[in-house]
Amino acid sequence: MTTGDTRPSWTSIEEIGDVVRSCTKCALHKGRVNAVPGSGSANARILIIGEGPGFNEDQQGLPFIGRSGKLLDELLATVPIVRGDVFITNVVKCRPPDNRDPLPDEVIACRPYLKRQMELLDPRVIVTLGRHSLLRFYPEGKISKDHGKILRWEGRILFPLYHPAAGLRNPAIKKQLQEDVLRLTEAVRESIRLSAPAPQTPQPST
Ligand code: URA
Ligand code: SF4
Repeated sequence: MTTGDTRPSWTSIEEIGDVVRSCTKCALHKGRVNAVPGSGSANARILIIGEGPGFNEDQQGLPFIGRSGKLLDELLATVPIVRGDVFITNVVKCRPPDNRDPLPDEVIACRPYLKRQMELLDPRVIVTLGRHSLLRFYPEGKISKDHGKILRWEGRILFPLYHPAAGLRNPAIKKQLQEDVLRLTEAVRESIRLSAPAPQTPQPST
């Protein structure tokens, strides 16, 4: 079995969108109204990754436009960040039925799209929302322990947050999200430090 990670190299975010919209690589395509490849700035330094589209996202083909999206926008506004500053996508691009968690084979089938989006966007900071998104990067991670931490992943900053849907269900998690999101500024600062060239070691002149 192949994981499908050895794909042709799609050359733009738009091209990935087109491929995703006609993708039938996992069973989730059967129930979708629209695939949701992601949206935002192709020059974004921050990539935000949720779990999978919900009802409203499926209806309109856009990520985080329902109640979770409204809370996400409110949280980002406090940093302050607007949608135009980020690119937002999901681990799986089609809606799981009844908003259930994505299954491992669905995550694997959809992986090449997220992988190539990351290569093309080359973000400095990856913000994961919720457990599934965190596990995609950090399989030993635990959202209850790692939320709000500034971590490193393959030369980038990984900044895990609780999923906004969890914040809508639980006021304590919402409060934690409000606190954690403010550290995004620090995460961006740290990412700039990380990508700066190492200082040159002075060489003795000859
Ligand atoms: N929840 C997600 O994980 N992603 C969306 O796009 C919407 C809700
Ligand atoms: Fe294809 Fe991903 Fe949709 Fe599955 S979830 S059909 S792999 S785009």
